[in-house]
Amino acid sequence: MVNERALVQTAATDPFALVSARLEPWLSQRAGGGAVDPVVRPSDHADAQINGALPLAKQLGCNPRDLATEIVESGQLDDLCAALEVAGPGFINVTFADSTIDHLLTEVANDEHLGLHKSSEPRTVVIDYSAPNVAKEMHVGHLRSTVIGDALVRMYSAAGHKVIRENHIGDWGRPFGMLIEHLLDLGEEVASSGLGQGDLDSFYKAANAKFSESEEFQERSRERVVLLQSGNPETHVLWDRLVAMSTAYFNTVYEQLGVLLVDDDLMGESKYQPLMPATLERLEASGLMSESDGAKVVFPPGFTNRDGDPLPLIVQARTGGFNYATSDLACVIDRIERLGADLMLYVIGAPQQQHLEMVFAVAKMAGWMPEGVSAVHVAFGNVLGDDKKMLRSRSGESVKLVDLLSEAVDRASAAVEEKNPSLSDAERAAVAEMIGIGAVKYADLSTDRVRDYVFNWDRMLAFDGNTSPYLQYAHARICSIFRRAAEEGVSSGEIAVREPAERALGLHLLGYPAVVADALESNSPHRLCTYLFELAQLFTSFYEQCPVLKSDGDTRSSRLAVCDLTARTLSAGLGLLGIDAPEQM
Ligand code: ARG
Repeated sequence: MVNERALVQTAATDPFALVSARLEPWLSQRAGGGAVDPVVRPSDHADAQINGALPLAKQLGCNPRDLATEIVESGQLDDLCAALEVAGPGFINVTFADSTIDHLLTEVANDEHLGLHKSSEPRTVVIDYSAPNVAKEMHVGHLRSTVIGDALVRMYSAAGHKVIRENHIGDWGRPFGMLIEHLLDLGEEVASSGLGQGDLDSFYKAANAKFSESEEFQERSRERVVLLQSGNPETHVLWDRLVAMSTAYFNTVYEQLGVLLVDDDLMGESKYQPLMPATLERLEASGLMSESDGAKVVFPPGFTNRDGDPLPLIVQARTGGFNYATSDLACVIDRIERLGADLMLYVIGAPQQQHLEMVFAVAKMAGWMPEGVSAVHVAFGNVLGDDKKMLRSRSGESVKLVDLLSEAVDRASAAVEEKNPSLSDAERAAVAEMIGIGAVKYADLSTDRVRDYVFNWDRMLAFDGNTSPYLQYAHARICSIFRRAAEEGVSSGEIAVREPAERALGLHLLGYPAVVADALESNSPHRLCTYLFELAQLFTSFYEQCPVLKSDGDTRSSRLAVCDLTARTLSAGLGLLGIDAPEQM
């Protein structure tokens, strides 16, 4: 159906959309006006199934099989289809004509975007992701947020939207008094060598230990918080150093991960501090604010605690301090009013669901989130170890991301050495990087994000199954076909799919834009993963059943063209997930 606000433009090369577009006017006229969705869906019995006759027949009070027959006999799909058959209570099974598939594949092959077009109504999408905390280790939850957020950034951008990345780091709050004092005690040099090497946890823990042991340190820390909040220049410089040391470390992780985040994307909690008093004033003016135990709160309807009492969103503590909720409210205002966001995505773990729902509810009540602007919590589950408990290192600590990523690359390097000993050291290192990092990202992206997943090296690095190495291998294999084709002096030509295996592959290739649309609408990168996995499987059976270089003439050049389109689709799809596709491995 034509949806004005769709995030991805319906592809002109999608045979499903083509059938839909053909039938819509006829159905609408038959219904006596109004839009009617033909409901064209994949089918196990044919290339597609049209289901729209059933609801329409109900609406018109006629027999659905008769209506389906009428649709078939109207002849409007005849040139696109080889067969149309009324089935069951009134479905229409559709078999596309080979010529339709050939024609559409040719168009896609000639299009550098593979049928994925830029939206004619681009939205401004603010994506809040990664968001580690200063002077604290980045944990696997931040890895998930970073990897999922990065994939969404790439997908929304590819669909033509204006994407604004925001890394909402935790860089403000009471602990900074203690952290700054600890920094002073250690001396900057010592502190920076620890923090710079990613030893964030020991820094934080040492500060914390001192805080609980020494009253003198507590006192200093409290005074320091006051100095920080009142804008004392010296304190600000120290705070700045602390933040800079941590963000430099975060950057090394981002670089190793190959995500798009840069310093310009930093938009930490501290940035919203100056906006908080005005946020509170606006809440006050809207008449939503009340007092509870001396704190300023808002009660969004529908939120209750365990006893069934209304749950407040605390926006100012009794002591006058602002908190996480206040900064997130200021942040909503900033994103909508300064950045012009009409879609805000929060890539944050599932435990923060209630916090976010309350923030969104209050923002709506206050009138800050007008019609047409939406906020979505892109929630995700936990990363588990083999014991099905939260992933921990052997010593029981939370896993350090840098260690995890270098282990991934080491393991990939060993696997590549075994699989392709002829690669030079430099080639192997580059390929291992792509495979190792890709495997970690894909393992994260390929399960429905709201579910937990088990982190398992052997599984994620396997060269078969729904893994990144399997997809990368399919791509590399096609590249090797083309290296041989070049040696033999043969090239691709006009596409004409005939064998069932190549026809199935061709049809699947045409579904790429629709799958990206589907993944975007639900902010679910795993749907793209599933598609790519199926694509690699269909390619494998095609390659087993349809000789490419051993065939000749038009058949060979058509098959080479299908191979080429498959490789480009794999590479583009992996690219949207932030994963590289090596040409050999
Ligand atoms: N720093 C927070 C954490 O580590 C995540 C912040 C997410 N973004 C936000 N706007 N609340 O849990």
